[in-house]
Amino acid sequence: MELLKVEDIHTYYDRSYILQGVSLTVGENETVGLLGRNGAGKTTTLKTILGLVKAKRGRIFFQDNEITRLPAYRIARMGIGYVPQGRGLFPVMTVMENLKTGMWNGFDTEGLDEILTLFPFLKNRLDQKAGTLSGGEQQAVAIARALLTHPKLLLLDEPTTGLMPLFVEKLRETISQIHESGVSVLLVEEKVPFTVALAEHLYFMVKGRITHHGTQRTVKENPEIFEKTLGVYL
Ligand SMILES: Nc1ncnc2c1ncn2[C@@H]1O[C@H](COP(=O)(O)OP(=O)(O)O)[C@@H](O)[C@H]1O
Ligand SMILES: [Mg+2]
Repeated sequence: MELLKVEDIHTYYDRSYILQGVSLTVGENETVGLLGRNGAGKTTTLKTILGLVKAKRGRIFFQDNEITRLPAYRIARMGIGYVPQGRGLFPVMTVMENLKTGMWNGFDTEGLDEILTLFPFLKNRLDQKAGTLSGGEQQAVAIARALLTHPKLLLLDEPTTGLMPLFVEKLRETISQIHESGVSVLLVEEKVPFTVALAEHLYFMVKGRITHHGTQRTVKENPEIFEKTLGVYL
């Protein structure tokens, strides 16, 4: 079954026409990659799904319910978690305080246990100010906070940005584990090999349009797609 269905959305910032008919789907327990260069419209796609920016045309469905015109907090409550570009942590708050902002229904002991199993290093860091963590650790806290909302779908916006290679490798494992736990992931990235390794289905965006899409296997077997649409090599 399709979990998320985006149908031909058109999004503007004032008079700038940004998303020019974007369609994509994310299935149950599926990892989907959305690739494109800086300025292509990837973040705007996520914000439109989340209701933070409204589509002027087109429709968005989550578990067969139309969410196109719902307020952002209701969309989030339906089970869509978001890790924004740049992570969106509160740097002077502790790790624990940051995590609590993801606990919407009171203290979530069970959720916290799960998070500490996924990210054991956080056990000794709960009282540390989030802004003093390394980039990779901050990304982990941002993902942990989103997971504490118990999403069915997690939207990740360029999670590898600014991470050292070792942390990128760890993040890859984390996203695989999230996938194994039954959560669907829509992964927005500029890093092509990282995304192709994780995503079962891939979409390529150029100037507000999806120019290609295909399964991981088709994409791996046709690397010229990358060369033509993104100017990068696998
Ligand atoms: N708040 C905004 N107001 C006006 N233009 C914006 C705003 N946010 C993004 N844009 C423009 O929309 C286009 C797509 O941006 P964005 O979705 O952030 O791309 P990406 O995430 O792929 O880098 C860019 O041209 C960007 O300058
Ligand atoms: Mg972006």
